[in-house]
Amino acid sequence: MGLWNRVFAAAYDPVLAGAERKGLAAARRSLLAGARGRVLEIGAGTGLNLPYYPAGVDLVLTEPDPAMAKRLRRRRDVTRASADNLPFPDATFDTVVSTLVFCTVPDLPRALCDVRRVLKPSGQLLFLEHVRAEPGSKLERWQDRLHGPWHAFACGCNCNRDFLAALQDAGFSTSEVVRHEWRFMPVIVRPVVIGAASFPAS
Ligand SMILES: C[S@@+](CC[C@H](N)C(=O)[O-])C[C@H]1O[C@@H](n2cnc3c(N)ncnc32)[C@H](O)[C@@H]1O
Repeated sequence: MGLWNRVFAAAYDPVLAGAERKGLAAARRSLLAGARGRVLEIGAGTGLNLPYYPAGVDLVLTEPDPAMAKRLRRRRDVTRASADNLPFPDATFDTVVSTLVFCTVPDLPRALCDVRRVLKPSGQLLFLEHVRAEPGSKLERWQDRLHGPWHAFACGCNCNRDFLAALQDAGFSTSEVVRHEWRFMPVIVRPVVIGAASFPAS
């Protein structure tokens, strides 16, 4: 377990506390109200989503980082797994939840493909992800400039990913995408998208 990963995991909840109070907790609650049936949360971190799941869902948590998983285990059982290699059969889940995760998975198309595999055809991916800023904006240029140092500092996080385009490339269609500002966080990770993605009926 790397020292920096341990520090990151220990600091995670206190660092996010201001952002949670200033809208992130409410955004989590509203997103997770849509969870139903068998639910898989990927990259569950320290478990900040746990208070917001509706009663009655059958929840499975995964987290690849040992330091995060150790903290999460104090709250709930967790399976150690990366989003691009999920240890579940095809079409297992009604809902997959991802909050602030797809910025960090090393191979985004592969992870989306595996999420698609474990979702039932009628299932949906509920997401809350920080994303690339508006094309041509000053913020977009700063995200590209600061990508390297931010990636090293934030345990592999990519501040400039076009997540919605990646979803589309992976064959998902999205509905009701809400844009949100992640307050109390560095400006390069403030643009956030919140929504649901599913498969178009064939
Ligand atoms: C910014 S934290 C978000 C934690 C939590 N989802 C939340 O909303 O607070 C990013 C999480 O993604 C996890 N992660 C990193 N690489 C991953 C991968 N390949 N597959 C799944 N999760 C990953 C990290 O270990 C970390 O827990």
